[in-house]
Amino acid sequence: MKPRLGVLISGRGSNLQAIADAVRSGALDATIGVVISNRGEAAGLQRARDAGIEALHVSPRDYADREGYDRAVAEALRARQIDLVCLAGYMRLVGTPLLEAFAGRILNIHPSLLPAFRGLDAQKQALDAGVTIAGATVHVVNADLDAGPIVMQAAVPVLPDDTVESLSARILVQEHRIYPLAIAKVLGQSTGERAASIAGNGEDALVDAIPFASGDAVKIVHLRAGDDALTRRLREAFPRATIKTFADPFDVASLAWWDAMFGADLVVAPFVRPKLTEAKTQYLYKAAADRASARGGVAILDRVDALKPVLHHLMWLKHAGFTDVDVRWMADGAAVLTGFTPRAAAGSAPPPPAGN
Ligand code: GRF
Repeated sequence: MKPRLGVLISGRGSNLQAIADAVRSGALDATIGVVISNRGEAAGLQRARDAGIEALHVSPRDYADREGYDRAVAEALRARQIDLVCLAGYMRLVGTPLLEAFAGRILNIHPSLLPAFRGLDAQKQALDAGVTIAGATVHVVNADLDAGPIVMQAAVPVLPDDTVESLSARILVQEHRIYPLAIAKVLGQSTGERAASIAGNGEDALVDAIPFASGDAVKIVHLRAGDDALTRRLREAFPRATIKTFADPFDVASLAWWDAMFGADLVVAPFVRPKLTEAKTQYLYKAAADRASARGGVAILDRVDALKPVLHHLMWLKHAGFTDVDVRWMADGAAVLTGFTPRAAAGSAPPPPAGN
C-alpha cells in the first residue's frame, strides 16, 4: 500500500497543490489521505476537494484548549491511517498530543534557510537582516518552533530591489520544488531509480534554466570531451546554436579551453567541481564572465554534498561579475546553478593559476 499523507493547512495551499501535483504525476509515490485546515475559509480546502481529496475543517472553537484540538486532529489523522503528516502553511503550534501520535513523522516547510529566521515573517526577517542569500527548508517538526532536523533546503539570491513579496515569490518556487522531494526522501524513495534519475532531471532543469529563445543562434561552450546526452539536449533545445565541445578531457592548463569562451553566450559546466580545486572553479567563473558576450552566462550542473557548496558557487558567480545568479534546481546530491549578464568587462582575464 502506498504511504498515506495527511496535509495540514491554514490558507492558500500552494504547497499542498505542489504535493498533490507530484502525487498525480507519479514523482511522489504516495496518497494524500486527508487535508485538514484549522480555518474554514482556507483556499487550500477547495484545492483539495478539486483534486478529489477529503478536506476537513477542524475548528479550534469547538475545543476547550489546544490539547483538545490537537487530540482531535491526531484522531482524525489516525482514523485515516496517515503515515506522514505534512504541515503546509499551517499557522498553529503543534502540541504534545499530535507530536506524540506522530513522533518524527511530521514535516514542515519554512521560508528561510533554517536555523536562520525562525517563526513568523521569515522573508521580512531576512530582508531586515540584509542577507544576500535566502531560501526554504523542509524539516522534521519537534517541540521547538522551526528547530527540528533539516531534511532538505534550497537557496535563492536576495536581489537589491527585493520586497517581501518578490523575495517570497522566489522562495515559494523553491518550496514547491523541494517539498515533494523531501517527502520522497523521508519515505525512503530517494534511493535507486530516483538517484539514477537525478542526472536526467538535472539536464532538463539546466536546459530549462537557459533564458535564450530556441531560435537564437547562440554560441554555447560545453566544457567536456565529446558530445553527451546534455550536449544533445542542448542541440535539440537550441537548433541554431553553435555548440562547442572538446577533443580531450578538461585540462586546466590548455589554452584551448579558455580561448573557446571568448564571445560565448553560454558556458555550460557540468560536474566541474570534481576536476577543479575551489580556486580553479572561481577562476573558471571569472574567466567565463570576462570572456562571455554581453548576454552571456554560465550554467552549472554539479553534485553537491550540502548547502555550503551551493552557497559557495553562488558567491563565486556573483564575485565573477554575474548579476542574475540563481539555484534553478536542487535534488538529493545535485544542483543546477546559473549566472547571467556579466559586467561589461573589457580586455582579457589573467592566465589560469599554475598547477592543478
Ligand atoms: C509558505 O511560505 C510556507 O513556507 C509557510 O507558509 C506559506 C504557505 O503557503 N509555512 P501555501 O499555503 O502553501 O501557499
